[in-house]
Amino acid sequence: MGATSRWTSLLRANRLSFALWQAPQARICRLTSLETERAFHAGSRHCHAPIKSATTPSQTAPSWTPAGSVLGFFIAAGLAYSLATPARSTLADAPDESPAKQRLIRLEEIHEHNRTAGTYWVFRGDSVYDITDWVPDHPGGEVILRAAGGSLEPFWKIFSIHQKQDVYNILESYLIGKIDPRDLVNGKAPDGHVDDPFKDDPARDAALIEHSARPCNSETPISELGSYITPTEKFYVRNHLWVPDVSDAETHRLTIELFDGEEVEYTVADLRKKFKEYSTTATLQCSGNRRSHLTQASQPTNGIQWGIGAISTATWTGVRLRDVLADVGVDLQDPDENIRHVQFIGAEAYGASIPVDKAIDRHGDVLLVYNMNGQPLPRDHGFPLRALVPGHVAARSVKWLNKIVVSDEESSSQWQRRDYKCFGPNVSASDPDWNAAPAIQEVPVQSAITSVCHVKADKLKDSDLAEDSVVLQGYAFAGGGRHIVRVDVSPDEGRTWLQAHLQEDGAKIGAFGSPDDRRAWAWRLWRVVVPVTQVSGKFCIKAIDDSYNVQPDTFEPNYNFRGNLANAWHRVPVSRDDKSG
Ligand code: MTE
Repeated sequence: MGATSRWTSLLRANRLSFALWQAPQARICRLTSLETERAFHAGSRHCHAPIKSATTPSQTAPSWTPAGSVLGFFIAAGLAYSLATPARSTLADAPDESPAKQRLIRLEEIHEHNRTAGTYWVFRGDSVYDITDWVPDHPGGEVILRAAGGSLEPFWKIFSIHQKQDVYNILESYLIGKIDPRDLVNGKAPDGHVDDPFKDDPARDAALIEHSARPCNSETPISELGSYITPTEKFYVRNHLWVPDVSDAETHRLTIELFDGEEVEYTVADLRKKFKEYSTTATLQCSGNRRSHLTQASQPTNGIQWGIGAISTATWTGVRLRDVLADVGVDLQDPDENIRHVQFIGAEAYGASIPVDKAIDRHGDVLLVYNMNGQPLPRDHGFPLRALVPGHVAARSVKWLNKIVVSDEESSSQWQRRDYKCFGPNVSASDPDWNAAPAIQEVPVQSAITSVCHVKADKLKDSDLAEDSVVLQGYAFAGGGRHIVRVDVSPDEGRTWLQAHLQEDGAKIGAFGSPDDRRAWAWRLWRVVVPVTQVSGKFCIKAIDDSYNVQPDTFEPNYNFRGNLANAWHRVPVSRDDKSG
């Protein structure tokens, strides 16, 4: 791509991002001059600098994806922008009897065309579109190429933003014909002609609690939440899209885009060779963990209705992000004051970012990880490379990492600027001011009961109690490296309280440094024995971290329509049917 066209792409990409974030529906096709100007400046510094390779120059592949926009920006959004150009609008206005709408195309021709013609055709319903012109203008264009030669619909379903009339209208400007009725069944292309973007996803452990298969969203079974290290195959999976097929770990490339637009590449092998290796034990928690509790206790929420298992712990091994950033020239002691965020981009187009201070903090322990529990990362967890941002919401630990952007802006992906935010209880899903809330980074204090077990007095091994008792176990976790200092357990719905015994393993294994520093990246497991005579009503628990942050007692005052960060006391009914030991 020449400099001019690359420039245009960057400008368009940035205009698109701004337009969508500021007013998602009405302004898909209209951009103000201010936005254009901002986009111009945001994009301009990324255009001309060369790419450097940390290995050999011959391995370098040019990349034009801009920092100010998002690789992870999604299909229809890009489509909406590109289709909004004046040249295309004449086609959109074409009457129904236009030649494009009369042309009949066989399904085989669409598939074959994609293989041989070098242009990209897709279909939606019985309409066929040529999106060739759109692809080079779209950051993340490789995502839509997954649909080339087949149906757009499986991809559009993944992004609800596509299911809007404006977007459908704009798509019409790319219309080139209709599928020949001989190939249609009940007016639609038969299943065999619709690509399944998830067909190469890996097999998963049957014990995971599945919320959705495509994309895979499965939580850790409760029985496994009692292990300090979650068995790898039982580690919860949160995928927004399909699992990208990265077959060669060693040659997978990570591109780092610097603030001046220069790019440097490393293979995973380079990272291993060049930088000191670190391991840390860290808990990842999805911001939707316990969302179902919030929904049940208050009102409906948008998102997967996770129970207590969208959280797991592993020992992660990789290299420090700060070391890599230092290697590409970022001054760790005194970084350029324009550098405010470090963006991560995954191979399938997911994107997120963290503040630069966390990225370069000597005690922040942000890793570029290739091993999980001593083995190469499984495909579901980011093979061959993922970011690990301990203490932050897991949405920032981007999997299948292939690009890092040092920037003055946050990632403009929907996962940074929309989904993972909390609004007040009065704000409804229909009209949030997305910019009014910050993206979630560090997570608040959380805990859950994972086991309730009635035990006869003569079976109690490690307790002085001579009475029949109930043994409760669970986890507690705080973000930001804050230690859990206490877990309070009430056997009678909050009237009286006992302290749980915190198991020591978290402090010993979980941090790089001493238990006194703020590097408690892993959960603390806890256990308490309660005499049955004290038990009435529900068990409740709350955890307290070393800043004396404590979980709220109820959900309602913290209701947010996205159902993020649900961390009110976990309440479990007392039942004589609980497993007895
Ligand atoms: N990275 C990519 N590339 N794609 C994703 O869908 N999901 C994020 C994060 N990183 C995601 C991603 C979210 S929301 C969570 S909670 C964690 O990955 C889940 O990590 P896990 O699947 O390894 O448990």
